[in-house]
This record gives sequence, structure tokens and C-alpha cells, in this order.
Amino acid sequence: MKPLHNMRAGVFDSGVGGLSVVKSLLESGLFSEIIYFGDTARVPYGVKDKNTIIRYSLEALEFFKNFDIDIMIAACNSVSAYAIDELQKNSNFPVTGVIHPGVLAVKNKLQDTNSSILILGTKATIKSQKYKFFLEENGFLNSFSIAPSLFVPVVEEGLFSGEVLQSVMKHYFKDIKSDPDAIILGCTHFPLISDAIGKYFPNSTLIHSGDAVVEYLQNEYNLDKKFDKTDMKFFASENPDGLKRVAYEWLNLEKI
Ligand code: DGL
Repeated sequence: MKPLHNMRAGVFDSGVGGLSVVKSLLESGLFSEIIYFGDTARVPYGVKDKNTIIRYSLEALEFFKNFDIDIMIAACNSVSAYAIDELQKNSNFPVTGVIHPGVLAVKNKLQDTNSSILILGTKATIKSQKYKFFLEENGFLNSFSIAPSLFVPVVEEGLFSGEVLQSVMKHYFKDIKSDPDAIILGCTHFPLISDAIGKYFPNSTLIHSGDAVVEYLQNEYNLDKKFDKTDMKFFASENPDGLKRVAYEWLNLEKI
């Protein structure tokens, strides 16, 4: 894919969480336009099975075919875990997920392949073992996984700090004896509580899908910061105004 005069990305997520990836894409200036679709009517995907996630993802692909996009980015880790090959097979533009970029970010940040890596993700993402598999392919054999499902509703409630988040973190992390060298925030919602996770594990390097995707796109497609302004279009399968409101808040957009 060559850098074009206009670069349009379609960003897909199960709901509003993918806005954490959009934040990094907006800061990167790689795109003139981003079309965001959140499947808010059917969120969460992280508790669904492989075939359902693939079916929903192919339906989202049909939606994006109405727009002249140059690339589709699956911000959702659960989609990235199961549906990238199917999406790629059925589209004539490139499709990228966040898992491969996330593992490349680990590789760029950690010299030592013996480093301990904690993978955090939804039940679907962890069950797929995609992070573990790609990490092993890159020589990182020392990884372990947790699916902290309660993080998703906590973030949805906007509890980015405070007692509830602290006790939920303690619940999931109580058996971890020392800070992992890296923690993969393998769910769209987790970057929103990265400050709290970073304080809990002050010696760990956190891997954020949004930053990882930007780095990946720059390297893989030779893209550069080119656009001072990125037009945004938001769509949702339910309550699009609600999604726009969250986007406005999370992304600090002046006007949608
Ligand atoms: N977007 C999902 C993911 O990154 C988290 C929310 C959900 O379960 O749908 O896996």
C-alpha cells in the first residue's frame, strides 16, 4: 500500500473500547479520515466463541465496504485473535489486527527473550493463545495470561482509579509475586486503566495496542505523519449518540 493523498482507515471494535486505539491513530497523523464502527448492540465479544466473533466481524466488513477505505484496523483484541484471516480473505484492502503489532512492540522494547510477560485479555483472546503463540515464535517463552473480565465493566463505569479498581486488581493479581518485565494490555479497555496498572506494577513495561499499531503501520506500509487533521466519522449498531459522547470525552474532540 502506497502513501496516498488521502488515507482512510476503517477502525472496528465491539464497542467503545477501540477509541483507545483511535487516540493513538489521531496522534500519529497517519490518516486523513477515520471511520469508526462499534458493534455496541452486541458488545461484549470477549465472552463469545470463535464462530460468532468471525460472523460479527464479517458483517462489520460489509459495513466498511460502503466507504472507500484504504485499510481496516481491528482494534478489538478478540476480533484480532480469531477473525483477521477471514477478514483479509474477504476484502480487497489490507486488514490488520492488534496482536501481531503488540508482539512486535514487545520485541522492540525487550532485549532479553527470557523476560517475563504477562498477557491481559478477554476470555476469548486468552483462550485463542494468539499472543502466546506469536511471542513464542519470536523467542519469548516466558509468558503467562490472565483474563480479568471485571476490568471491562469497571472501565465502562468510568472507574479509572479508586477503591473498586484497586480491589478488582488485587483480586486478579494477588498471586503474582514480582513485577513482570512487560504487561500486554491485550484488551481495548485496559489502556484506560494503564496508570493504575502501572502503579500496581511499577517495574513493568506496558504494551499499548494503539501505540503498537501506529508503529506497525509506519514500518509495514512505510507511512509517515502527514495529516495535521483527521476527520472522524462514528457509527454504532446501537445508541450511536452514546458512542459519540464517549468519543468526544475520551478523545478530547472539540466538535463531532
Ligand atoms: N474490545 C474487546 C477486546 O479488545 C473488549 C470488550 C469486549 O469484550 O467486547 O477484546
